[in-house]
Amino acid sequence: MYQIAVIPGDGVGPEVIDETLRVLRRIQELEGLEFETTHYPFGADHYLKTGELMPESVFADFNDMHAILLGAIGDPRVEVGVLERAIVGGVRWTLDLYINLRPIKLYAEALTPIKNKTPEDIDMVFVRENTEGLYMGIGGHFKKGTPDEVAIQEMIMTRKGVERAVRYAFEVARKRNKDKKLTLIDKQNALPAQEIWSRTFEEVGGEYPDIERDHAYIDAACMWMVKNPEWFDVAVVDNMMGDIITDLGAAVQGGMGLAASGNIHPGRVSMFEPIHGSAPKHAGRGVICPYAAICALQLMLDELRLDSAAKRLDGAIARTLGSGKVTSLSTGSGIKTSEYTDVLLGFLE
Ligand code: IPM
Ligand code: MN
Repeated sequence: MYQIAVIPGDGVGPEVIDETLRVLRRIQELEGLEFETTHYPFGADHYLKTGELMPESVFADFNDMHAILLGAIGDPRVEVGVLERAIVGGVRWTLDLYINLRPIKLYAEALTPIKNKTPEDIDMVFVRENTEGLYMGIGGHFKKGTPDEVAIQEMIMTRKGVERAVRYAFEVARKRNKDKKLTLIDKQNALPAQEIWSRTFEEVGGEYPDIERDHAYIDAACMWMVKNPEWFDVAVVDNMMGDIITDLGAAVQGGMGLAASGNIHPGRVSMFEPIHGSAPKHAGRGVICPYAAICALQLMLDELRLDSAAKRLDGAIARTLGSGKVTSLSTGSGIKTSEYTDVLLGFLE
């Protein structure tokens, strides 16, 4: 029996989670697995009603579960960043989910906005460091609102944090066994302290002689992502730069309708989410594509080592998008949220 914590969250989060749970129930039947889901109300409504963001006590619950599924967090009624930091950040930091795993895979040529690129060209995995960098909340304002105002946001990189991200990425490159290449992405030419990344990369890389090491500055990497996405196999990147380039990656693979991420601490409870936001203006309209959340479920099954279920779902996603039955994942596609799921369920059998 697998225990799954579910946080539907804000905006379109509850809609895409409902659809994802339909898929999970079907997988359960087909694969003879048992999942028990426990819902948690965290998000804007709960906060506005009760003043509670994310109580400490819930982390003890989470630690006893096998995984967490998150819909989306963020609501215009709450000051920007408050919910995101407390809930998304809170889970990532408190549970020390130090890897943000973001596969970028083109399932059908028609989905990419880039000319002449095929599914063979766009198939990579980004390993984003998920607990450090610019995201640690260290900094603040001095003389705020005056002409002499100073604002500081510190970028923190620890040897431990960098090394575990780099090591994880080498392992992914080895396990994937595709080009056996790992690209380190940074901005060391402007941020000299990022030398810790390249030094650690070289040292740890010595233990992986079978993996080719490559390097790109983040600005050039963004250009390659569009011009030569086939150059990437696995990439490792710091938190902030990883946040940005994986949105670009999402666009290249066909948009936010498909992009998912796993917030992972290997061997411990991890959290899976679509990388699109809460999209409040689309909430409740039944127009959002649930595939990103369903892809997050796929990552969850994979992380739980439920290989047969994970493969089945991956195959269903690929067949759905290859079938021509779903030609657009955008909110203007005319396809209803539940219809997207119906098509996919047909390919699960
Ligand atoms: C993401 C999101 C978050 C991040 C936000 C909601 C804080 O953009 O998961 O990519 O920046 O990590
Ligand atoms: Mn992001």
